[in-house]
Amino acid sequence: MTTKVGVIGASGKMGSEVCRAVEADDDLELVARVVRGDSLGALVDSGAEVAIEFSIPDSVKDNAAFCLRNGIHTVIGTTGLTSGDLDELGGLAKKHEANCFVAPNFAIGAVLMMEFAARASPYFEVAEIVERHDKEKLDAPSGTSLRTAALMNEARTKPWDTPVGGKESLPGARGGEVDGVHVHSLRTPGSVAHQEVILGSPGQTLTIRHDSQDRGSFMPGVILAVKRVSSLEDLTVGLERLLDL
Ligand SMILES: NC(=O)c1ccc[n+]([C@@H]2O[C@H](COP(=O)([O-])OP(=O)(O)OC[C@H]3O[C@@H](n4cnc5c(N)ncnc54)[C@H](OP(=O)(O)O)[C@@H]3O)[C@@H](O)[C@H]2O)c1
Repeated sequence: MTTKVGVIGASGKMGSEVCRAVEADDDLELVARVVRGDSLGALVDSGAEVAIEFSIPDSVKDNAAFCLRNGIHTVIGTTGLTSGDLDELGGLAKKHEANCFVAPNFAIGAVLMMEFAARASPYFEVAEIVERHDKEKLDAPSGTSLRTAALMNEARTKPWDTPVGGKESLPGARGGEVDGVHVHSLRTPGSVAHQEVILGSPGQTLTIRHDSQDRGSFMPGVILAVKRVSSLEDLTVGLERLLDL
């Protein structure tokens, strides 16, 4: 028995790679490719059991809500969802008995980077995150950097030291801040997904770095989520929840 899968955002960089990965997997059957302007009804008509969402931050919530309301398990890779959006999608999942899985980053190396950064956080005083993506990326900072900062903050019991270094004469020079973790977003042509977490304490620096050189890095995580989503509960956030770390 194969699982029927529909892809939303199928013509995008991630969507087209995901279509290829689904087609290459003997346990999965690609039954719908939804591109901008198409009706999401095609997913229902095709009998899709799982939808994979890789569109844009402005449309991801409505697309996912449609899938869940129609009883289709949904795997979301598009970034930009707020915690309020996640609560809403979790509520729809519960109500309609379709599960929702969201990962800001499907690359195993990125998940390990987040895990290592969280583990190291209690032992340092300052933290900076530098993320780099393609210049076309529609949101900043990246979902991965926000998730990394959240996990690092959860792992600590005391506040970070947040040095500004005197006057910030150029507004934004110290980046954005997530409860003491400074986040810097670089946008350069040709980048895929790159992040460094830099932790400091007197006399030492620990740098944890991950690079996705191409979109193939995300596919094993996406396929794993597609295969597991029906056995999860309501809303699950983070690929680490599917891995035995
Ligand atoms: N979680 C992860 O591991 C991960 C990894 C990489 C990227 N991402 C995220 O995935 C998302 C997509 O990235 P990408 O690089 O593939 O971007 P992309 O190449 O710009 O693809 C987005 C696609 O969505 C389509 N689209 C726009 N509005 C739509 C709608 N209402 N319904 C259906 N499709 C719609 C676009 O169509 P048009 O071209 O016609 O506008 C485009 O084909 C971004 O949010 C990115 O940050 C996540």
